[in-house]
Amino acid sequence: METEASSKVKVLLEALPYLRQFYGKTIVVKIGGTAFKDPELLKSIALDIVFVEFLGIRTVIVHGGGPQIGSLLQRLGLESRFFRGLRITDASALEVVEMVLLKTGKEIVTLIELLGGKAIGLSGRDAGLFLAKQMGAVQTNGEEVDLGFVGEIVVTNPSVVSLLLKERLIPVVSPIGVDNEGTPLNLNADTVASRLAGSLHAEKLILMTDVEGLLDENGRLIPSLKSTRAKGLIESGTVTQGMIPKLTCCIDALDQGVRKTHIINGKIKNALLLELFTESGIGTEIKF
Ligand SMILES: Nc1ncnc2c1ncn2[C@@H]1O[C@H](COP(=O)(O)OP(=O)(O)O)[C@@H](O)[C@H]1O
Ligand SMILES: [Mg+2]
Repeated sequence: METEASSKVKVLLEALPYLRQFYGKTIVVKIGGTAFKDPELLKSIALDIVFVEFLGIRTVIVHGGGPQIGSLLQRLGLESRFFRGLRITDASALEVVEMVLLKTGKEIVTLIELLGGKAIGLSGRDAGLFLAKQMGAVQTNGEEVDLGFVGEIVVTNPSVVSLLLKERLIPVVSPIGVDNEGTPLNLNADTVASRLAGSLHAEKLILMTDVEGLLDENGRLIPSLKSTRAKGLIESGTVTQGMIPKLTCCIDALDQGVRKTHIINGKIKNALLLELFTESGIGTEIKF
């Protein structure tokens, strides 16, 4: 006879192969800005993270903050403009970007702490984590667009992150870099997550966003694909806006030796656990 208690034990045992696979390994999880719009959702994501870390999986968090940056800019009467998913960042936007991102990072840290985990917030400015350079002007259809203080990562030095992981702290990384003159730069959070995953030799890169995963030209979810097909989807224009850096990042991470990358819907409750501990997983997985 199966009691409630024994069915709980069964669930635990079913997770054993995954626990064995991921124990002691590193995963990098990027949380998209939309998660911050719903405090309950964010709390539930933080709980999943605390749970996963207690299972012995070294977990690194990278977060975005697009909607929050957009709304503060709007309150200040400043406009948000994007180019291929990257926020065009002038000097006044840069100040807002950094303020909002650092605050957002600390919100995740606090949630993790309240739920019994140990977390620490940092950005690319700390301990030489991300040296970047200004992307500056880019050409598009013969037109020139100045991206301003958007940074391109030049050097990733993840030693501070490794140190924290060794101490069983959960690093919460805000996507800010610094150039060699000390000017902060706005980094795309997907790129930050991808570089971290690559440099830490992570087992997985998981990008949580606000859609089911990667959608094909008919709007249907692609559960699994290889990086060669992913490149084609960008070239054919099936993938646009913020999905471009996401997909590019997954391809880069795979090139850097990350075993698997995933684009999942962070709005699904316990999305992280569903991805890690179920056979089929959720969203889109991109493999080499
Ligand atoms: N082929 C595609 N499949 C899924 N989403 C796509 C695709 N092309 C463009 N997108 C857009 O990319 C968005 C996700 O990127 P973004 O807005 O930057 O979110 P995040 O805050 O998670 O980085 C989706 O909400 C969707 O509008
Ligand atoms: Mg984005």
